[in-house]
Amino acid sequence: MLKQEIEDGQASLADPQFRADVLNGLALRPRAIPARWFYDRRGSELFEDITGLPEYYPTRTEIGILRRIGPELQQHIGPGQAVVEFGSGSSMKTPLLLEAIRPAAYVPVDISGDFLRESAGRIAGQFPDIAVEPVEADFTRPLTLPKGLGAMPRLGFFPGSTIGNMLAARAVELLRNFRDVLGEGARFLIGIDRIKPLDVLIPAYDDAAGITAAFNLNLLERINRELAGTIPLDAFAHRAIWNDARARIEMHLEATRDMTFAVDGRVFSIAAGETIHTENSHKYGPRDARLLLRAGGWTPIAEWTDPDDWFALILAEAGPERFAP
Ligand code: AVI
Repeated sequence: MLKQEIEDGQASLADPQFRADVLNGLALRPRAIPARWFYDRRGSELFEDITGLPEYYPTRTEIGILRRIGPELQQHIGPGQAVVEFGSGSSMKTPLLLEAIRPAAYVPVDISGDFLRESAGRIAGQFPDIAVEPVEADFTRPLTLPKGLGAMPRLGFFPGSTIGNMLAARAVELLRNFRDVLGEGARFLIGIDRIKPLDVLIPAYDDAAGITAAFNLNLLERINRELAGTIPLDAFAHRAIWNDARARIEMHLEATRDMTFAVDGRVFSIAAGETIHTENSHKYGPRDARLLLRAGGWTPIAEWTDPDDWFALILAEAGPERFAP
């Protein structure tokens, strides 16, 4: 088979949504490709590496808070809960929560079946008293929880400040979907990254070892591999910038020279200095975060941070707004 036929064959096997997002995104001005496409196998591995970087404070800070607040969480959240974790991935945070509140059931929800089965198996082995019931689903869409949960009180868990990767309107929709899935009276524990000095924020998204750069550039490698792309990888540089008006870190891939390349048979020309916007990571002040939760149908009832106030864990409940006029 000719090289082109092999490439065409591979391109036709690609996820149609990936193809549409890349082709539309490269034609947009400014050019932009949704961050969800970072996470192929290599991208997921690189993200795991990012979470261990000295500059990437969110993971260790959130873990530190979870370790510290175990006894308090236990007081707020009674026994016999069903913990529903959205986008469980290969999270290291779950055992800390389960250890603290000892729920009756744990329901990890993830779109990646492989990750899900792996992490569900690990948790089941570690916590033999907890019923582990994985659900393979896209948590941005309505989903049904396992019938076996019956009338158990529910606690949603959404750590990692993943909410920050969404625009506010999408974040609110997602919070409302979680509320619909969990039901009236449920509780929700969410990790939200705070606004902080730029000398902390920028290196967290542009580390000295270049792992975040590799994570960003891996998107182009994925496009070349899955969509028969001819993008010259050495002609793009990783950029992490703070957009103060929107309170977010933006990741971009900046063209270092003029170039022309093809993706799935379509030709694109990019001038030196132009960027492809690949990710937003919104940061929230304390009031912003509480307002976001309220807009999503959740009333904050407790909040914990680290000594530097870099990261917050907020406990909220799905109930009518108290004190509404
Ligand atoms: C998954 N998400 C919360 C990460 C973040 O911090 O926005 C993704 C990430 N991008 C670059 N580094 C980490």
